[in-house]
Parts: sequence; structure tokens; C-alpha cells
Amino acid sequence: MSRGRFIALEGGEGTGKSTQGRLLAETLRAQHDLKVTTTREPGGTPGAEAIRELLLNPPGDGWNAQSEALLFAAARADHVARLILPALDAGEWIICDRFVDSSRAYQGGAGGLGDEAIRALHEFGSNGLRPDCTLLLEVDDDARRERLSARDGDVSDAIGGRSAQYHNAVAASFRELAEADPQGFVLIDGSGTAQDVHCRIMDALAPLLKGAMR
Ligand code: TYD
Repeated sequence: MSRGRFIALEGGEGTGKSTQGRLLAETLRAQHDLKVTTTREPGGTPGAEAIRELLLNPPGDGWNAQSEALLFAAARADHVARLILPALDAGEWIICDRFVDSSRAYQGGAGGLGDEAIRALHEFGSNGLRPDCTLLLEVDDDARRERLSARDGDVSDAIGGRSAQYHNAVAASFRELAEADPQGFVLIDGSGTAQDVHCRIMDALAPLLKGAMR
């Protein structure tokens, strides 16, 4: 049996990752007859979901930058070892809503820890696992604000609720990571309807699908 493929959806808040993950899974199952597992970070396993709760609704005064990065890396290590690698070995396709590039953009870039530190944690925790393809969804600021207010109302978690300046730094950091690694990332224009964006994603994944079907 051939190994599955690992696709990560990345981007700031309100860029449509979750909707696109669902649509992608449906198409891969229905039209390509693939076994697909959808998952998310932080989370995806019982341990990582427990850490998610600690990160998004932190006790007391919250975490400092280092603790936050370590918790994300710990959640990811459990997720990779217990869910992602076994599924890939079983020939499944994994669609993951956020992965290590979120830590690189949020904690490394916007949070100021730097890329080297985040990569070192990922090397230690998850053997440096990279997705086969990282889809970076981008929308302009107005569209993002509109989607976020429709989705969250007034409630936001500890990270989603950070300043506009922090989230602008996240977006800039994602863009830099993608530009530095054009093989690993595909930039996806997230504007228009969900179906428009889905078509762009299927076009972007055509080479990966072709390679896997051979
Ligand atoms: P979630 O509700 O899943 O956000 P979204 O729907 O926007 O993807 O919450 C995850 C939050 O955690 C989000 O604000 C991004 C943040 N995050 C990091 O800061 N670092 C990470 O490594 C990951 C995976 C997420």
C-alpha cells in the first residue's frame, strides 16, 4: 500500500480554512475515491485537545511566549505520533486545519520567538515532519473582518482576540514563509465564494493527485 499524503491548510483567522478543509475532503472522497481524515491543530487527539483548551482558554494570567510555543509543540507531537503518522502509513490522506507553519507565523513571527526556535521545537517534538503540500489561504483585511464578525460575534479566544497589529504580523509572517519556500507552499486567493476557492485548491493539488495515482 502506498503512503498517504499530508495537506495542511494555513492562514490567519477568518480566511476560510475550515470550510475549505471540509470541501476538499468531500471531493477527494467522492471524486478520487481516497480515504481521507480531517483533523485540526491545536488538537486532533484527546491529549492535544486538552492542551488546546489550555492554550485558547488559559488559566490565570495566561502563558508567556515560550510556554505557549512549547504547549503548541507538545500538542503537535502527540497529534503527529498518534494520528497523523499512523494514518499516512495506512495510506490515508490527511487534511489538517493548521500545522507547524501556524507556530512559525504566530509564535515565531508575530510572537517574536524567531523561526529557528520554532523549528528546533518541531524537530524535537515531531521529527521535523512537513506536509506534502501547505495551502496558504489569503484574504484581504476587509473580507477577513467581515467573516470574523459573522463567525465570532463578540467572543474570541486568547489568541484570536489579540490586537490587529499582532494579526497583521501573522499575515506578513505567513507570506514571508511562503515566499522563502515556493516548493512547499501554494498561495491560494481566498476571495469569492467557497466554491471559487475550492476550485483554486483543486487546481493547485492536481500535480499531487496525479503523482499519487500513478
Ligand atoms: P481556532 O479556533 O482553531 O482558529 P481558526 O479557526 O482561526 O483556525 O484556534 C486556533 C488558534 O490558535 C488560532 O488563533 C491560531 C492559533 N495557533 C497558534 O497560535 N499557533 C499554532 O501553532 C496553531 C496550530 C494555532
